[in-house]
Amino acid sequence: MKKNITKHSYKISCDERRALNKHHSFLVFFTGLSGAGKSTLANRLEERLYNEGIHTYVLDGDNVRKGINKNLGFSPEDRSENNRRIAEISKLFIDAGIVVLCAFISPYKKDRAYIKKIVGADNYIEVFVNTSLEECERRDIKGLYKKARAGKIKNMTGISAPYEAPEHPDIELSEHQSIDESVALIFNKIKHKLKIM
Ligand code: PPS
Repeated sequence: MKKNITKHSYKISCDERRALNKHHSFLVFFTGLSGAGKSTLANRLEERLYNEGIHTYVLDGDNVRKGINKNLGFSPEDRSENNRRIAEISKLFIDAGIVVLCAFISPYKKDRAYIKKIVGADNYIEVFVNTSLEECERRDIKGLYKKARAGKIKNMTGISAPYEAPEHPDIELSEHQSIDESVALIFNKIKHKLKIM
């Protein structure tokens, strides 16, 4: 199939789209256990960026899995495919000149390395939301841990499926920081990358 595919080139480049938006584009990738606070932080960071005039878009596990990835489950293979599609979608958003915020468990190191490769190392900022399993289970906002402990959910990350913690994340957050502190930390780390024009 691939041999009959020809890549088209378009007149307006990524740099021109970035210039029109007056800032750079890249991916901020939140990884961590279910209930760690990834979506909450992505949401609050987006608000902060929006208020600075930055064009953003958030992709998160639950939402993406209701649409483009609704045929995927939680086996290692399906999670990898989920992550591969997220990488390709993020790449398109970056090309469109938008700062993408992704909130996915993304439990496998190899999948995160793949995302970094697809979007380009310069365009990838990994944020490890390092909330302990104990704290995630205590929060259990969606009741998934209770179900997993009762054997009603298979492949639950942290219980019956692995989470390979990042060894060298760009930013590591702890459950002891407030949301405001965490957002401020991320914003301060990424603001130079925005290259606001
Ligand atoms: S992954 O591993 O990156 O493909 O997962 P992701 O796309 O981020 O989806 C995680 C959300 O799916 C819900 N959910 C589960 N999570 C982990 N394990 C199992 N078995 C599972 N089943 C459903 C859960 O709501 C996750 O959302 P968050 O926001 O992380 O809690």
